[in-house]
Amino acid sequence: MFGNEVMTNPETQSAKKLPGLSADTFVSTKTTGKPQAPVKIHAENVKVFYNDNQALNGVHLDIHQNEVVALIGPSGCGKSTFLRCINRMNDTVAGARVTGLITVDDRDIYDPKLDVVLLRAQVGMVFQKPNPFPKSIFENIAYAPRLHGLARSKSDLDEIVESSLRRAGIWEEVKDRLSSPGTGLSGGQQQRLCIARAIAINPDIILMDEPCSALDPIATARIEELIHDLKSNYTIVIVTHNMQQAARVADRTAFFHLGNLIEVGPTDQIFINPKEQKTEDYVTGRFG
Ligand SMILES: Nc1ncnc2c1ncn2[C@@H]1O[C@H](COP(=O)(O)OP(=O)(O)OP(=O)(O)O)[C@@H](O)[C@H]1O
Ligand SMILES: [Mg+2]
Repeated sequence: MFGNEVMTNPETQSAKKLPGLSADTFVSTKTTGKPQAPVKIHAENVKVFYNDNQALNGVHLDIHQNEVVALIGPSGCGKSTFLRCINRMNDTVAGARVTGLITVDDRDIYDPKLDVVLLRAQVGMVFQKPNPFPKSIFENIAYAPRLHGLARSKSDLDEIVESSLRRAGIWEEVKDRLSSPGTGLSGGQQQRLCIARAIAINPDIILMDEPCSALDPIATARIEELIHDLKSNYTIVIVTHNMQQAARVADRTAFFHLGNLIEVGPTDQIFINPKEQKTEDYVTGRFG
């Protein structure tokens, strides 16, 4: 509702000056964020240090269930760092230290008693560069469900593989070549394979770090459609440098700058009527 109000505000006519963005572009006018949905991810005063360098300066952000939130901002502002906090991938980075509170489903994910392997099953991740395992298409999907004991029989596993590939919108393209190497697919297909792999262990949350930056516009459109389809079942946090992409896929957008979360709001408001000057400067291309 807020999104629609923003769109009808006469001040927002200035939006027309934003390159390539019009009122029709925004997903949030059709499916305005879901503030009534439960908070899925809660970040409170999150700071990240790489040795002595501070990369995040105390980020507060709530992300709701079944919401798509885009993280935008200039290179080095901390988008990937923040994303990696949500499934504790920073644990694997030498010298990285995270402080503050992050909960998923009200549970502190930095609790020493928490099983990180289970957390990463619940919070899947898709990277910038598609990174299929050097294994068959089938094995790429089957590997983690087998590891997590999700399949009791071969037919269970076949079912998981097929349904994951279907949900990632790639089944029809690969169903006759499941034993071929995953690395033999096109870049866009590999990225959908990686999304299928993330989905195969039933995560609730999917983190995507610039998932389309290595893809052509057609493959990008395919992934964006997929994000649209997936959001009814998952909460998605996506880092993107592409403003149009944020506008097309995200209910809300968060703008980061120099390790600070400057502003977060419905995507149309962030692009059309930002509250902060820094956000306006960035979205209008004055820096970044
Ligand atoms: N592994 C690391 N070791 C040391 N410093 C790091 C590491 N990863 C990131 N940083 C630093 O933390 C800051 C934030 O980096 P981050 O990768 O989160 O930025 P980003 O917003 O994702 O940038 P980009 O858009 O270029 O991907 C930068 O100053 C970066 O140099
Ligand atoms: Mg990054």
